[in-house]
Amino acid sequence: MSEYQTQLLNYPDDEATIVSLLQRGECVALPTETVYGLAAKASDPNAVAKIFTAKGRPNNHPLIVHIDSVERLPQWAQNIPDIAYELAAEFWPGPLSLLLDKHPQVPSEVTGGKQTIVLRVPSHPVFLSVLAKTELGLAAPSANRYKSISPTKSAHVLRSLDERIAGVVDGGSTQRGIESTILDVTGDTLKILRPGPISADEISRVTGREVVNVYGCGVGVPGSVKQHYQPTTPARVVETLELARLGVKSENVGLISYSPLLANCPLNVKAHQHLSSNPSEYATSLYDALHTLDVSGCDEIWIEALPHTSQWDAVNDRVSRAVARS
Ligand code: TXA
Ligand code: MG
Repeated sequence: MSEYQTQLLNYPDDEATIVSLLQRGECVALPTETVYGLAAKASDPNAVAKIFTAKGRPNNHPLIVHIDSVERLPQWAQNIPDIAYELAAEFWPGPLSLLLDKHPQVPSEVTGGKQTIVLRVPSHPVFLSVLAKTELGLAAPSANRYKSISPTKSAHVLRSLDERIAGVVDGGSTQRGIESTILDVTGDTLKILRPGPISADEISRVTGREVVNVYGCGVGVPGSVKQHYQPTTPARVVETLELARLGVKSENVGLISYSPLLANCPLNVKAHQHLSSNPSEYATSLYDALHTLDVSGCDEIWIEALPHTSQWDAVNDRVSRAVARS
């Protein structure tokens, strides 16, 4: 498939082009504060179909709809509980996505046939401004081929989707680096369906309600597959102590480490990405490190095993899917 000459666009210079492509039902990759999203008009089933085709994603995997303000919630959802407004007041614009009952007028193509819908107001100024100018709701999954590494730079988008989409807007590196937290607010208990930048503790502190993690339990998110965020180079997790004892066998390895003791250690590896030992800073650079090592010519990617504390939940979730084998 090479239907498109993908345009590399800038904001605000190319605003008119971006707005017109989206209004005509084309897909344009846009930066959000989490990862780049592949945006298309959520109210148009043909536009939504182009997202699934470009990504090669099964069409029963629902998409997140992005809106420019909480005031638009009732256009997309119904039976909205007060807690949704409470959370929106605290966390929007930002990386928290809320699962609600879908408004009957929302095309079922967006929600993969489900009666629920996931919505968020992103905080990236480019995405917010495009939402405001188009006056649309924009469906936007991460702008990468199905199961591959999510993009945190426009070059990552092109690596995956060049000639498959109308355009990509360059907005530099994304700030958070991993996808939004998805929270189901439809029941009595608040349930985290996908861990992300906003933690269960933060949500619990703000709402005074119990928050349970249900990801990894095989419930909730149809797109949450075991293999995801995958480099083309085989990847595995390696314990810190094993790394400290590295020998010649590692010379074709690309390594992602975080332990301060490995920062300046002269390791016998082909390529080395040393990331922060702070979990949110680590999250910001994880996908970029995976993309970089994936094109470094190494034969295997080793990821230093991370702590198993709750602050690392969202990162461990991504790493375990990046290394999962079928
Ligand atoms: O940070 C993010 O959330 C990024 C940026 C671009 O906003 N978007 C993103 O979208 O990660 P995507 O499509 O790659 O992930 C959406 C996840 C999928 O796992 C999907 O199954 C789940 O949200 N989801 C969406 N709507 C749902 C629904 N109605 N019911 C259950 N899960 C849903
Ligand atoms: Mg994705």
